[in-house]
Amino acid sequence: MLVINTIAELTRIVDEVKSEGKTIGLVPTMGALHDGHLSLIKRARLENEVVFVSIFVNPVQFNNQDDLVKYPRTLERDVELIGEYADYAFAPTVEEVFPTPPTEEYHFGPVEEVMEGAARPGHFNGVGVIVRRLLDWVRPDKAYFGEKDYQQIAVIRELVRQCDIKSEIVPCPIVREPNGLAMSSRNRRLTPEQFETAANIHRILVESQQLEDVPQIKAFVEAEIAKYPEFKLDYFEIADADTLQTVHSMADAAGVMGFITVYVGEVRLIDNIRYK
Ligand code: PAJ
Repeated sequence: MLVINTIAELTRIVDEVKSEGKTIGLVPTMGALHDGHLSLIKRARLENEVVFVSIFVNPVQFNNQDDLVKYPRTLERDVELIGEYADYAFAPTVEEVFPTPPTEEYHFGPVEEVMEGAARPGHFNGVGVIVRRLLDWVRPDKAYFGEKDYQQIAVIRELVRQCDIKSEIVPCPIVREPNGLAMSSRNRRLTPEQFETAANIHRILVESQQLEDVPQIKAFVEAEIAKYPEFKLDYFEIADADTLQTVHSMADAAGVMGFITVYVGEVRLIDNIRYK
C-alpha cells in the first residue's frame, strides 16, 4: 500500500487508474481506525479493483476545539492496519487540503436541521466541504459510509444529489464491541469503567424495540438513561428513517429509527436503532 500526502500525487494516481479502466472505491475516515472502519474498507476491497482510504482529521467539521485537539491521531498504526486491504492511503496535512480557509456554504435542507445538525452548528457544512473535495479528487465509483453516522449519510446523499456527483454512496451496518457499544474512535477516551457502562446505551435501545409505540419508547429510553449518573442525555429522537424528521407514532413513516446522543463523562457518543 502506498501512502499519498499531496493532492497532486493523488490526482496523478487517480488519472492513471481511470485510464486503465479500473473501478475505484473510496473510504473517507479521520483515522484512529478500528474494526468499524475496517468493515467499510473490506467491503470496498470486495467491490472495487482499486481502494483508496483517506485519513484526515478535518478541522472544519469540529465545532468544539477541545474535541479537535483531543481527537486521537495514530497514522502509523492506521497504515499498518489497512495495508492488507487498501491500495492507497491519502493522508494530507491540513495546509495541503486547506491552503486558505474554505468558504463553501452548503444547504442540505431538513435532513441537516435536526439532531447532529442542530446540536453541532457548522458540523455538516464541514463534512460537506471535505467529502465534496475527496469525491472530486478520487472520483470513486463507490464511496462507503457507516450507519453509525446515519444522519451523515443522509447529508452526503443530498450533497451528491445537489452537486450531480456520479459516485454511488454505499451505507454499511454499525460494527459493535462484544459488549454492544458501537465502535468509535472516541471510545478510547473512556475509562475501563465508562466503557462498560456505555454498553448500556445499546442494551437500552435493544430493549426499547419491544415496546409498542413512540411515546412509550421515548419515556422508557429517557428513564433508563437517567438511571446512570455517568450519562448525560443530549438527545433521543424517534424519526422517519428517510427524512429524519420526528415522528409521533409508528404509523407516521414507512421506516422509523431511534437516534441517541449521550455524554459519558466528557465523551460524546452517538448510536441508533431501527424500530421499523
Ligand atoms: P470517522 O468518524 O473516522 O468515520 C469514518 C467512517 O467510518 C464513517 O462513514 C463512519 O460512519 C464509519 N464508522 C465509524 N464507526 C463505525 C462503526 N462502529 N460501524 C460502522 N461504521 C463506522 O465520519 C467521519 O470520519 C468523517 O465525518 C468523514 C466522513 C471522514 C469526513 O471527514
